[in-house]
Amino acid sequence: MCGIIGILGKHEVSPQILDGLKRLEYRGYDSAGIATINSGKLDLRRAVGKLINLSDIMVHAPLPGRSGIGHTRWATHGGPSVANAHPHRAGRVAVVHNGIIENFRALRAELTSAGAEFGSETDTETIVQLASQYLEQGMTPVEAARSTLKRLEGAFAVAFLFEGEEDLIICARRGSPLCIGHGAGEMYLGSDAMALAEMTDRITYLEEGDWAVLSRGGALIFDAEDKQTNRPMTRINVENTRVDKSGHKHFMAKEMAEQPGVLQAAMGYYSGREHDSLELPQGLDFARADRLIMVACGTAFYACQVAKYWFEKYAGLPVELDIASEFRYREPVLGPANLALFVSQSGETADTLAALRHVKPHVAQVISVVNVPTSSIARESDIALPIHAGPEIGVASTKAFTAQLQVLAILALRAGLQRGTLSPKAFAERLFELRAVPGFVAQALDREEEIKRLSEVLSQARDVLFLGRGMMYPLALEGALKLKDISYIHAEAYAAGELKHGPIALIDKDLPVIVFAPHDGLFEKTVSNMQEVMARQGKVLLISDAKGLAEAGEVPFRLAMPTVPDFIAPIVYAVPAQLIAYHTALHRGTDVDQPRNLAKSVTVE
Ligand code: F6R
Repeated sequence: MCGIIGILGKHEVSPQILDGLKRLEYRGYDSAGIATINSGKLDLRRAVGKLINLSDIMVHAPLPGRSGIGHTRWATHGGPSVANAHPHRAGRVAVVHNGIIENFRALRAELTSAGAEFGSETDTETIVQLASQYLEQGMTPVEAARSTLKRLEGAFAVAFLFEGEEDLIICARRGSPLCIGHGAGEMYLGSDAMALAEMTDRITYLEEGDWAVLSRGGALIFDAEDKQTNRPMTRINVENTRVDKSGHKHFMAKEMAEQPGVLQAAMGYYSGREHDSLELPQGLDFARADRLIMVACGTAFYACQVAKYWFEKYAGLPVELDIASEFRYREPVLGPANLALFVSQSGETADTLAALRHVKPHVAQVISVVNVPTSSIARESDIALPIHAGPEIGVASTKAFTAQLQVLAILALRAGLQRGTLSPKAFAERLFELRAVPGFVAQALDREEEIKRLSEVLSQARDVLFLGRGMMYPLALEGALKLKDISYIHAEAYAAGELKHGPIALIDKDLPVIVFAPHDGLFEKTVSNMQEVMARQGKVLLISDAKGLAEAGEVPFRLAMPTVPDFIAPIVYAVPAQLIAYHTALHRGTDVDQPRNLAKSVTVE
């Protein structure tokens, strides 16, 4: 979380830094700030809240200079305030930082007793105070930065700017992503390549432990042992980094609407020449695996939860699921025939990445399903499968979820074929169903007007309950998460059969209960649980297909979905889960794309 940008330019850099920060705002929006060097002098501007507040300040108090660093913050140590906003400055140094300095308390105590005066509650300020102290001791900026980095523990990305140094930015990557952009006589630095897309398509990704000295002429990169090293320069597809709302009111609305196209593209990408074949990376070997370990966070975790049903049903492969932040702390038992599969939109989620690093030495293969193919998780996997969803800017994940499901479904079918649990005929039939997903998702999106009306009722609620069985249970969890994310309504999800073991006590006439129940093998059972809710005056919204709605009898609210094969139902039913959250949030007037307290990329533990 937090976004970092740096520019050594030929022209004024503040407007470019603001533009880059706009592209990084998805990483946090508690505060923002910029520091520049102008005629040798270091100066900075900072503002609380969204970037627009910083832009306003800079209209009245411009920040000239051709070298600068910028930051958009997601608060960890110290609440959102100007004092806690980055860049932080001490003496002749300014610093922007993403991540957590774990030993900051000890450093702060040491620096305070040496006379340093702290102006913020942040861990970041220890970095800048340390660097300033080293400069005062007579070190050069490079020596001061290097000595500072040696003292820091934790996971972070950091950039230093020094007074009197017009042609110098020093940066480091340890645990949090950072990349360098190459221009013509200009150099750039960003938390991701997207931030730099308007400036350059030539990118060098720093590796774990690297630090770099940037000047307009290029970058000197050093590894964790301080040995000068070369990291390859890659060209990114700038088209893939375009971030506009294309006429939609919100990024989330645009990203939901994009789903049929995205799913079609993902399917096309993994389709073989024959209509009933798949083209997946060589070496993907499910045949010899004795267990599949799936690890992710949030929405990506719910995608894994759906996929568990697929892998077990179609491939007979036992699946163990874990929330990434819990995984490595419970000392999981790992074996050489295990496969580990990590799912992440950003590919940078700190807990998921840490889990990947934890299992890698112990399992047969590490596979990842990611949206950002250049991300840390993708690069550290043995096999990375991109979902090809394009940039997802809305903080609530939508198109990435359905595309993750699509790719996981493809993998489950491949696993079934490799393990001989799916006959070629059954494989071809399931693949045929999967190809129909984009069309069904488009039909589900057509229900938007009706969902908008239903959401008006939901927007009055204090709590909402979601129910589902089988693969609709993770969908219920996803629906509840989306609603909490962006409407701030408390929502919970239960496996419908679990209701009577406690949560049924919550049911009264004021509690809306949303039931996901396509007419599948579990329909009767889910409907019985729904009746138990209605018998206690719960306000049910049943989401089902024509047959399900016809058989369910009288229900207070209903939403008709297209009739779809069981296999693909979770992908299609994700759409009403998303639209319900979106329209409920609109009715409540919340900030849909940038909900409070959240950030798109969670790069701290
Ligand atoms: C919720 C949401 C989050 C993410 C989670 C994992 O709408 O978007 O729960 O799914 O933070 O992020 P990634 O997929 O980037 O690892």
